[in-house]
Amino acid sequence: MTALKNDRFLRALLKQPVDVTPVWMMRQAGRYLPEYRASRAKAGDFMSLCMNPAFACEVTMQPLDRYPQLDAAILFSDILTIPDAMGQGLYFETGEGPRFKKVISTLADIEALPIPDPHKDLGYVMDAVSTIRRELNGRVPLIGFAGSPWTLATYMVEGGSSKDYRKTKTMLYDNPQALHLLLDKLAQTVTSYLNGQIMAGAQAVQIFDSWGGSLSAAAYQEFSLAYMRKIVSGLIREHEGRKVPVILFTKNGGLWLESIADAGADALGLDWTCDIGEARQRVGSKVALQGNMDPTVLYAKPEAIRTEVGRILASYGKGSGHVFNLGHGITPEVDPEHAGAFLRAVHELSAQYHE
Ligand code: CP3
Repeated sequence: MTALKNDRFLRALLKQPVDVTPVWMMRQAGRYLPEYRASRAKAGDFMSLCMNPAFACEVTMQPLDRYPQLDAAILFSDILTIPDAMGQGLYFETGEGPRFKKVISTLADIEALPIPDPHKDLGYVMDAVSTIRRELNGRVPLIGFAGSPWTLATYMVEGGSSKDYRKTKTMLYDNPQALHLLLDKLAQTVTSYLNGQIMAGAQAVQIFDSWGGSLSAAAYQEFSLAYMRKIVSGLIREHEGRKVPVILFTKNGGLWLESIADAGADALGLDWTCDIGEARQRVGSKVALQGNMDPTVLYAKPEAIRTEVGRILASYGKGSGHVFNLGHGITPEVDPEHAGAFLRAVHELSAQYHE
């Protein structure tokens, strides 16, 4: 394997010294880029991009080619490949988001769910990872990812996106054993899926707990964090002679940072509702932090973006352990020039915080 030319992302996740604060953007390959929209049109639809390793590689590389400041690549795929591999039949209705042909509602449905084999049933993702690693040729590290069991369960039980997670939360309170069985099957699947990605070449992994913050404090511990802890304890943590850092991102998890920091991961993803300096004090030296600019700042003028980047860097303060990112995914309406101004500002303004 080629040596990494830029490893500041991996170093910051392990709190090792860096020259400038590394940066990447959640959803960095996506609809705000005209070159992404052209590839999607060529492939036909979103899932065809994900299922064809050459296309997945092409769109993964697009933001890196446009923005030389990016310090990491993220596998182009989706968290919903897992429910699809469990037989739910994922499809995307234009403008409507994800949908499933089969929805899960009873204990019998959950008992009947198979545990997918990452190499047989999700082989296209493993192939995408190895194709992207080859194409990167050591330029920057590659991030693999999966959804958290709770976040995946909301899509599987609701049948798509949801505002209030009504069916999933009804199951949580009426039939907790059924939900626990589903979460347990998902935790097993996510563990082997992420380990498959690591063996195929992912150099760090992130677990997206996008909807963990919708739970009560007690339910979060029992139905989301417990399963992420289980996954983290089953992950391969060293490969090709290097640590493979794990990032946990619970959107709206700011109230629970101390317990998330105890789950065994190397870093926590933060949304923009918490102050990153306060978060740093709360988690101490246990974990690194990733985040946390409000993605809507990117609608504002480049000078305003630069001011906000400066404010977040100052709040984190001196030293390593910070990976700059948005607090959630970049949105399709963002001007690509503004994303560029954001990335440049992170490197330009952060040198003063490192020795
Ligand atoms: O970050 C990256 O660039 C890697 C690619 C990536 C996608 N989805 C591509 C995608 C990643 C990491 C995801 C994760 C994902 N998918 C999450 C967790 C992250 C988060 O945002 O909280 C969730 C909840 C999903 C489920 C999902 N996929 C939804 C709700 C939608 C529809 C909403 C939307 O943004 O269109 C998707 C589709 C999707 N996944 C797109 C992309 C680029 C847009 C599809 C298109 O091209 O129309």
